Amino acid sequence: MTAKAIQFTVDGIAVAATAGQSLIEACDDAGIYIPRLCHHPDLTPSGNCRVCTCTVNGRQSAACVTPAAHGMVVENDTPRLTDDRRTIIEMLFVEGIHPCPYCVASGDCELQALGYRLGMTAPTEAYLWPRRKLDATHPDITLDHDRCILCSRCIRASRMEDGKTVFGFEGRGIAMRLNVDAQGGLGETQMAAIDKAASVCPVACIVIKRDSYRVPNGERRFDKAPIGSDIEARRRPSGSGGHRS
Ligand code: SF4
Ligand code: SF4
Ligand code: FES
Repeated sequence: MTAKAIQFTVDGIAVAATAGQSLIEACDDAGIYIPRLCHHPDLTPSGNCRVCTCTVNGRQSAACVTPAAHGMVVENDTPRLTDDRRTIIEMLFVEGIHPCPYCVASGDCELQALGYRLGMTAPTEAYLWPRRKLDATHPDITLDHDRCILCSRCIRASRMEDGKTVFGFEGRGIAMRLNVDAQGGLGETQMAAIDKAASVCPVACIVIKRDSYRVPNGERRFDKAPIGSDIEARRRPSGSGGHRS
């Protein structure tokens, strides 16, 4: 296939992709936002949060791990998919502890921003109120496990970008937790504040100390525009991709 030889539609909009692009990458280029949490453009996709699930040729598929394919018919922005995504976000809120008004990441948090974008008001399930550790053993970084949504971005970044193995998961299902590769906590690992792993957390689990209020509340990414606005700003009314067919 030559460049942009792959053509398909998303909610009736014609999208062009290059061979090797995933569905989410092609849509990003075309200015079509597919909600996501575990996906990060600099990291190998893991497909574990399922927030990006779309209907592809009638079947549900995670857009971050679905290759763009010629002729496929994709549904992204539908009431049903929005409901499903909101339910996932709600479950993440009740599974951890997320007091947004008091949180250092408020306005810069992808979970919070998705809650707003997907129209979440209050979770419909009971809060689980987990009792997890706050790891402040590192001189420059805190690790607040109450906020962790188990997206695995830090694990992938540490291994693939930093050449370290600072983070991993332990346990399964509802008992799954993030851990670090030292008994004494993050301070005993090879983690550094300049590591890629320190900059990819979508929530306030990995936080750089003394840096949290460098950008004041009210002036942060999602205080100014809803999550996904940067991608939607790429949308062209006509051209090689992203026009209504
Ligand atoms: S991490 Fe995000 S969702 Fe959780 S309390 Fe902080 S701002 Fe709210
Ligand atoms: S610490 Fe952050 S990046 Fe790592 S798994 Fe938890 S939420 Fe994801
Ligand atoms: S963003 Fe695709 S599964 Fe998480």
